[in-house]
Amino acid sequence: MIPTVQSVLISESQIEKRVHELGQQISKDYDDSDLVLVCVLKGAIMFFADLIRTLAVPARYEFVQLASYHNDTKSSGVQMIQGLYQDLFRADVLIVEDIVDTGMTLELLLNHVGSFEPTSIKVCSLLDKPDRREVPVSIDYLGFEIPNTFVVGYGLDYAQHYRNLPYIGVLDGEGLR
Ligand code: IMP
Repeated sequence: MIPTVQSVLISESQIEKRVHELGQQISKDYDDSDLVLVCVLKGAIMFFADLIRTLAVPARYEFVQLASYHNDTKSSGVQMIQGLYQDLFRADVLIVEDIVDTGMTLELLLNHVGSFEPTSIKVCSLLDKPDRREVPVSIDYLGFEIPNTFVVGYGLDYAQHYRNLPYIGVLDGEGLR
């Protein structure tokens, strides 16, 4: 059974404001760069689509798809479903993620992107759950730090549901873990 959404953690207008702030900062930092954004499917799609439209610098973009193995809300491993094909040699790569939880997905991705020998690799994530970290990864541009609770919406799912919500919500029965 799919649990219902209990409350709004981050509203649509809070997301919009923060995405614009991030876009301004990224535009400033990547002025005069060969910027390639890498969108991590499926979760980052909404954040990515909103973020790229706030950028004032010319940018290329690519997609990768990864899946973590989890039955409900717990992840236990990561698999690359679609990797990168575009040559990223000497590019300035910005990985765009929905959420950094254990850090396993990001670690795999950093290694994959690194194998193309880009000039730089940075990470932009909408959400961060630092209490859940198992692998030490750092985030260069962060939307919001959130507590240890399972969230859905704005691209994030529970068993593929709720990605379409325009806000970040907390599922019913998901108190702080
Ligand atoms: P990781 O544990 O840092 O590797 O995160 C793996 C992936 O799990 C993320 O990219 C999300 O797709 C998913 N994930 C982690 N926490 C949540 C959550 O609270 N809601 C929905 N998906 C999540």
